[in-house]
Amino acid sequence: MAILVTGGAGYIGSHTCINLLNAGYEIVVVDNFSNSKPEVIERIKQISRKNFLFYQVDLLDEVAVENIFRENDISAVIHFAGFKAVGESVNIPLSYYHNNITSTLILCEIMKKYGVKKMVFSSSATVYGDPEKCPIPENSTLSTTNPYGSTKLMIEQILRDLGRSDHDWSIALLRYFNPIGAHESGLIGEDPHGIPNNLLPYISKVAAGDLPFLNIFGDDYDTKDGTGVRDYIHVVDLSMGHIRALEKILTTKGVEAYNLGTGKGYSVLEVIKAFEKVSGQRIHFKVSSRRPGDIATCYADIRKAKNELNWQASKTIEDMCQDTWNFSINNIKV
Ligand code: WQD
Repeated sequence: MAILVTGGAGYIGSHTCINLLNAGYEIVVVDNFSNSKPEVIERIKQISRKNFLFYQVDLLDEVAVENIFRENDISAVIHFAGFKAVGESVNIPLSYYHNNITSTLILCEIMKKYGVKKMVFSSSATVYGDPEKCPIPENSTLSTTNPYGSTKLMIEQILRDLGRSDHDWSIALLRYFNPIGAHESGLIGEDPHGIPNNLLPYISKVAAGDLPFLNIFGDDYDTKDGTGVRDYIHVVDLSMGHIRALEKILTTKGVEAYNLGTGKGYSVLEVIKAFEKVSGQRIHFKVSSRRPGDIATCYADIRKAKNELNWQASKTIEDMCQDTWNFSINNIKV
């Protein structure tokens, strides 16, 4: 019995594959490398010292996806595959809706056909929109401010409806806050193409001298120092949350959402200070205007995952910055 990992060559997917292999699971990985690189598959094998089957397949290719289920005895699916850039989604919404939603519908149809009714789904805290209060519990009002977030919210709804139509399904909807950091080996990490949109990869490039300075998008928010506050979580902690969620769905039924965060909020200036401390590099910055769509504060209520998944994050913001910097200076880019 194997766990199918879609998007397994991606940032969070690759870290989760390593933890699955370390935990003794047999995995089958599928990725189309639209936002990842083939070398990551070899690095997962190198780090884990384990082998696994890999399929270079686009989930929109129904025949190829069914072939994976025909050739392997799949017991559950961890579904990461999808486009995930907020800004890009505003510019090409139809591509995001088609890619993220149609591929998930194809996957679910084939899972149903082969009697595979267990899924861990990669959702996002972006489904909370601009939260009424922090920390944010899972039963908060859900709303979205961009097409990327809307695909996540729509897929959550699709999966809830699927669970209501057939109570044999067991689905965990994992709402990530802000994943950062990298594997301690420095072999895999977040390596976006081009100029990074997210804070940590951008800071890392400034520290490495690849970019001259960071633009801080606004310092006039109603927060501790005026800059945006987010719940940063180490990608290794986050990937362990998937293992706990998998253990849960393998033994229970129903559809449940869980926040995967630390429950702590750090401002942009606090992150800069932590990164300077661990890297010994000055992070030059300029304050610019707010980024459209940004919210002031977002951090998780973490009690549900702790109580029901027996999981909580353990790594500190310094650990996250250290591992990000380690991945950068090793320059082991893939
Ligand atoms: C963090 C903070 C910015 C860049 C996004 C997605 C979310 C999830 C995680 C997928 C904010 C500030 C950033 C910069 C800055 N992705 N910032 N200068 O926007 O919280 O979340 O990534 O699930 O869906 O929305 O992350 O890293 O872009 O921003 O000042 O160059 O850093 O304003 O306060 P965000 P981020």
